[in-house]
Amino acid sequence: MPQLWQGRASKAVDDRVNDFNSSIRFDARMLAEDIAGSLAHSAMLARQGIISEADKDAIHAGLKSILADVENGALSVDPAAEDVHTFVEQTLTARIGSAGKRLHTGRSRNDQVALDLRLWLRGACAGLQGQLSELIGALCAQAEAGAGYVMPGYTHLQRAQPVTFGHQLMAYVRMLLRDKGRLADAVRRMDAECPLGSGALAGTTYPLDRFDTAAVLGFAAPCQNSIDGVSDRDFCVEICAALSLCMMHLSRLSEEIILWCSWEFKFIELDDAFTTGSSIMPQKKNPDVTELIRGKTGRVYGDLNTLLTMMKGLPLAYDKDMQEDKEAIFDAVDTLALCLKTLTPMLATMTPLPANMRAAAARGFINATDCADYLAKKGLPFRDAYKCTGSMVAFCIDHGKTLEELTLDEFRTFSPLFENDVYAAIDLTACCEGRASYGGPAKASVLAQVKAAREALEAQHG
Ligand code: ARG
Repeated sequence: MPQLWQGRASKAVDDRVNDFNSSIRFDARMLAEDIAGSLAHSAMLARQGIISEADKDAIHAGLKSILADVENGALSVDPAAEDVHTFVEQTLTARIGSAGKRLHTGRSRNDQVALDLRLWLRGACAGLQGQLSELIGALCAQAEAGAGYVMPGYTHLQRAQPVTFGHQLMAYVRMLLRDKGRLADAVRRMDAECPLGSGALAGTTYPLDRFDTAAVLGFAAPCQNSIDGVSDRDFCVEICAALSLCMMHLSRLSEEIILWCSWEFKFIELDDAFTTGSSIMPQKKNPDVTELIRGKTGRVYGDLNTLLTMMKGLPLAYDKDMQEDKEAIFDAVDTLALCLKTLTPMLATMTPLPANMRAAAARGFINATDCADYLAKKGLPFRDAYKCTGSMVAFCIDHGKTLEELTLDEFRTFSPLFENDVYAAIDLTACCEGRASYGGPAKASVLAQVKAAREALEAQHG
């Protein structure tokens, strides 16, 4: 396929330059969006009297036949075309003749590509939103079932205070709901302004109706400034930043899954269908999926860095550097979609092991704060209660006991305030249930969090 821009040069462009310049191998995935933009543009050109109705009808029939043929396999994208815009326009002209040559009136590939990428990302983000909702749904179901499973909560990866399995999972649900909100914000801003009609950079002398094409293509308004219209890639950066943050959350969750399914923790058992084996060690059952998610997080951060670095030195308006935006943002979208596709069923099918969680909770003095609180509630200043409990923990470590294994006499050697009710106060389930503060680990609180999360999902869909 020849270039669209033949005319000025005295000789053919070197093959190596053509190969280097071409973006068809990755921008062909915007074909449907390119055609949607061309349908809106040509309809508007006819309405404004810039092209004839007959030409518009021929253009529309031709564009629709190209889309249908590519979708049903009758037409394949020509890898020799410079880019998707070239492929569509030249195929159109081959099919309908000179009317096809009028399509590009009052338009440039610069506003065209800025539009196509926005439209493509709109669809891609809707897909990711649906996948995130499914993951949130799976976590809510596990949290609901495990709302009363006592496990150690950690700080510094040291056993700290009692929480519940459901409580811990719902922390991830909060992160994922924020991810969804961030993505929705970025898309809302992207959809606020349509670049079509910006031309190469300086608008056009044709009487375009930019409000018409903006509305038809689902934007709130045309962009205010044509130079900004063709040179802005903030939407790519914003979406990639939102995806990076989401990957960070998936990576932290993956790390916990990896720990929890190890023999050292054994808080969960993964379904065999979501684990892998070793070629030499017959006993192995590996959480490769979550390790890959942790690994792929770096890729998406890299994509964000690519976009930020690619844009930072560009003079206005369009520069060819910007062709590099697509591979980066496509990779970020593809990577997150791939991770979610596997992580959600993996989490939905994992089996929590509450007895092991409980056994871990029994070791590590995670009720020490509750013991200090007990003394404080009996009138001892908290700092003194803290110190007293610290010496009790040291005593227990020396004697190989847990706090609840101390006899009442032993308790009383530390403080006369201890009575028989101390056992109930430091019982692990009671410690969890006692933490009924808003957002805390008590079963009722976790169930309330699950309900709120499901309502938030509903509200996002509504
Ligand atoms: N393939 C190009 C890109 O992705 C399309 C825009 C080309 N514009 C131009 N002036 N060469 O950015």
